[in-house]
Amino acid sequence: MSASPSSRRLILTRSAALIGAASTGLLLPEIVRAQSGKVRVGFMLPYTGTFAQLGVAIENGFRMAINEQGGKLGGREIEYFKVDDESEPSKGIENASKLVQRDKVDVLVGTVHSGVQMGIQKVARDSGVLSLIPNAGVHAATRSLCAPNVFRTSFTNSQPTLALGQAMVAKGHKKAVWITWKYAAGDEAFEGFKESYTKAGGTIIKELGLPFPNVEFQALLTEIAALKPDAVACFFAGGGAAKFIRDYAAAGLKGKIPLYGSGFLTEGVLEAAGPAADGIITTMHYSDSLDTPRNKKFRLDYAKAFKAQPDVYAVQGYDTGLLLIQGANAVKGDLNNKPALYKAMEGATIDSPRGKWTMSKAHNPVQDMYLRVVENKENKVIGVAAKALADSGAGCKMA
Ligand code: PHB
Repeated sequence: MSASPSSRRLILTRSAALIGAASTGLLLPEIVRAQSGKVRVGFMLPYTGTFAQLGVAIENGFRMAINEQGGKLGGREIEYFKVDDESEPSKGIENASKLVQRDKVDVLVGTVHSGVQMGIQKVARDSGVLSLIPNAGVHAATRSLCAPNVFRTSFTNSQPTLALGQAMVAKGHKKAVWITWKYAAGDEAFEGFKESYTKAGGTIIKELGLPFPNVEFQALLTEIAALKPDAVACFFAGGGAAKFIRDYAAAGLKGKIPLYGSGFLTEGVLEAAGPAADGIITTMHYSDSLDTPRNKKFRLDYAKAFKAQPDVYAVQGYDTGLLLIQGANAVKGDLNNKPALYKAMEGATIDSPRGKWTMSKAHNPVQDMYLRVVENKENKVIGVAAKALADSGAGCKMA
């Protein structure tokens, strides 16, 4: 048990003052927590729906990082709590509150979907709980609504696509159609694409969209065939991405109109998409084929532990674990020592399978973006599309 003297005093004072309430059982969770001394880690992730696999990969990656440290954080045992957020924005606040109010987690790890993240962001800002974002790229989380207790280990939605436009124009594709799910992640990915593609001299001839998580792509693919662009660029992910890739080929577009995307399009879906994915070019802060000892060891260890191939989501979950470990070690497990905890996390360099990255002032990774092509069920790196790319952090008062 490693509660700091001040938090121990707080627990004792509260226990004494509310002894009556304790006898009713109302205070039990707090007392149990104080006695066990375990760090309470809450996963709020999608375990059902089109992003279910993403949630599992993130949790696997996180646990792997912790298990490499003997399963402890700053010397303390860990107790895990889980909520399936179903990628359902309307339940975001309620689900985050379950972990923070009911389960009294010290750290909330979540989530994947940008709309759901906005619910977590509100609860994190209101409660002050340490919030680690292992995927969702919604700009506001590390821009206008940034907060000292919120750290992202993944990307902002426009980061991968900011590296995409230039790469497409360099291949001679001057007229493009953009297609996505119409919600924050797709809209903000478009912002990055538009900026980079038009700056490089490309013209976006049409923006197409459908509501998340709809996968009825047929009418839109027919429209693309009629528009005859030089190339198509998109944001899709998870189960929906696998279907988009298959439908694109089935509509006869593969081989005729090259398909590009932010790299989520081809992450974790290459088995499900099959040969239809071959040749798709994407930009992303990770690639399966990165030829570094760090990445090779990570891939081998992950495959052994989980009998599955890791993807960018597994890497982001792993890096979330690495960041928390660095913070927890700096405060010897006393996560209540917030100034020192945040300072250590802000100054951390994460030795990630994606390559080393650092935290921006707004708490978002500064990282390289790779250009990749799908070959034989692998995202093969073919270049670096952007070096040490930082999000603008626009509107973040900490920055
Ligand atoms: C998001 O909603 O922010 C999101 C979801 C899935 C991804 C990337 C971003 O792969």
